[in-house]
Amino acid sequence: MNPELELETIAREVAECRACRLHEARKRAVPGEGPPNAAIMFIGEAPGFHENEQGRPFVGAAGRFLEELLAGIGMRRDQVFICNVIKCRPPGNRDPQADEMAACAPYLERQIAAVDPRVIVTLGRFSMARYFPNARISRIHGQARVVDGRLVVPMYHPAAALHQPALRSVVEADFAKLPDRVAKARSLEPPDSEAAPPSGAEQLSLF
Ligand code: URA
Repeated sequence: MNPELELETIAREVAECRACRLHEARKRAVPGEGPPNAAIMFIGEAPGFHENEQGRPFVGAAGRFLEELLAGIGMRRDQVFICNVIKCRPPGNRDPQADEMAACAPYLERQIAAVDPRVIVTLGRFSMARYFPNARISRIHGQARVVDGRLVVPMYHPAAALHQPALRSVVEADFAKLPDRVAKARSLEPPDSEAAPPSGAEQLSLF
């Protein structure tokens, strides 16, 4: 599989997708963006107002904060892959529904297989739930676990830190650990891209 071509194919399919009701009100679908060989993938929740206008992930206030957090560890957004669990904006920014996440899941799975990142950072509870369904973000944020050969690090959503200023330093501290995590993750076995999606049972160890 050529990762660049596969990501382009996914983006085209997402742009025309009608697999759930969210296509009805969307202006632009938001597949995600970043280098096909990015070492880190950030998975957010769903496009908001600005993302729906521009067809790009994290371009509003939460995106600006994400860029600040990246700058704090010496990185730019064009060095990481950024996408969402849901590729179309839920009306009024309501929570994604289970059937919408199920309809969209194959796109995310294919993006993960194509980019094959060493580290996945989940932003917020919906992407965290993909890996740690019963976890509480307040308990596990910033901790890395090996899932299917990659490190998965759950973090608070940047928007949560914008709404609750006390979380800001927590998110910054979790980000500060990322460069070291990436270095450690490079020593892990490459994941089997044909493997089934991860389940809780595949969580092997805590970094
Ligand atoms: N919040 C998200 O979770 N994703 C975006 O793309 C923008 C805001």
